[in-house]
Amino acid sequence: MKGLILSGGKGTRMRPITHTAAKQLLPVANKPILYYGVEALIDAGIKEIGIIISPETGEDVKGCVGNGDRWGIRVEYILQAEPAGLAHAVKTAQDFLGDDPFVMYLGDNLIKDGVGPLVERFQKGSADAFILLKEVENPSSFGVAVLDEKGGIVVLEEKPAQPKSNLALVGVYLFNKEIHKAISLIKPSRRGELEITDAIQKLIDIGHKVDSHILRSWWLDTGKKDDMLEANRVVLDEMVDVNIAGSIDEGSRVSGRVAIGKGTQLKNCTVRGPAVIGEDCILENSYVGPFTSIGDRARVSFAEIEHCILREDCKITDFHGRIADSLIGVNVELTRGDNRPVAYRLMLGDDSKVEVV
Ligand code: G1P
Repeated sequence: MKGLILSGGKGTRMRPITHTAAKQLLPVANKPILYYGVEALIDAGIKEIGIIISPETGEDVKGCVGNGDRWGIRVEYILQAEPAGLAHAVKTAQDFLGDDPFVMYLGDNLIKDGVGPLVERFQKGSADAFILLKEVENPSSFGVAVLDEKGGIVVLEEKPAQPKSNLALVGVYLFNKEIHKAISLIKPSRRGELEITDAIQKLIDIGHKVDSHILRSWWLDTGKKDDMLEANRVVLDEMVDVNIAGSIDEGSRVSGRVAIGKGTQLKNCTVRGPAVIGEDCILENSYVGPFTSIGDRARVSFAEIEHCILREDCKITDFHGRIADSLIGVNVELTRGDNRPVAYRLMLGDDSKVEVV
């Protein structure tokens, strides 16, 4: 069994943050989203992973993930020159995949329960493809499946204007080699892409068996700012253990599940978990509230920060105000010229400089 992780695309829905970074490299609980996919595949026993990259962000993805040595696996990169669809990505990866069965994992998706049990079920069963479904409130933003009373798939449609069910296709799929034939038989969709949803429908049309499973636990597709904050909230809520490597002075209070990296100093601060603060940060006279991730080397003073993602090297100094529900890029500087209380909700791309006067 091989793994194929899709980490191409331009991340247009996450601009300005994605002007300078691949969306799959944005951190959730201070770890790139892409790592969650890699680790889910490794946990399922997969040792060979191909990562689809784009010309725009491919080098960054390579730099961040490397050749797999850190996990003791092999990672290969496959360049998809155009964002021509998920099925097109599989086509591009054909040399890497050969005739092997594989898990395809969309690099911006997070699922709670990992993929191990799914791989096992697929290997034991007789289906040629296995899809995951999840009830959602906005099915027209996804691939949508209609099932019969026995749970068999009746039809699959990609982002239908009038969805016939509320079951969305989750971005984790298991295939054997039959998918390549199905892909060769489909045409680009209305949005001009070779859709994996259409390829799976084609598999069914030509008489192959496709199994499905409805996820009951959480699934997050981190396409937009609020999805990222939600992913950060859910992952912090479930995964952070107390781990304090940095130093906390006598005037500081830390409560709940909080991780503080080595070299980080807290002076006269209150931190309420779940929260994670990276390495070599200095926080002074500030409050960090639940569901906040702060990247390495951040500087924070006289600020209240809650339900936020702050990336590495941010400087929020002498702020005298509150920042909530915000996503702040790498190396952002944010200061204020007065000390009347205020609250902000922000999305700031890397290297922004904001002075509020
Ligand atoms: C893709 C698939 C869609 C699926 C979704 C899951 O959509 O085309 O069927 O439901 O991933 O994240 P995209 O993210 O390309 O809009």
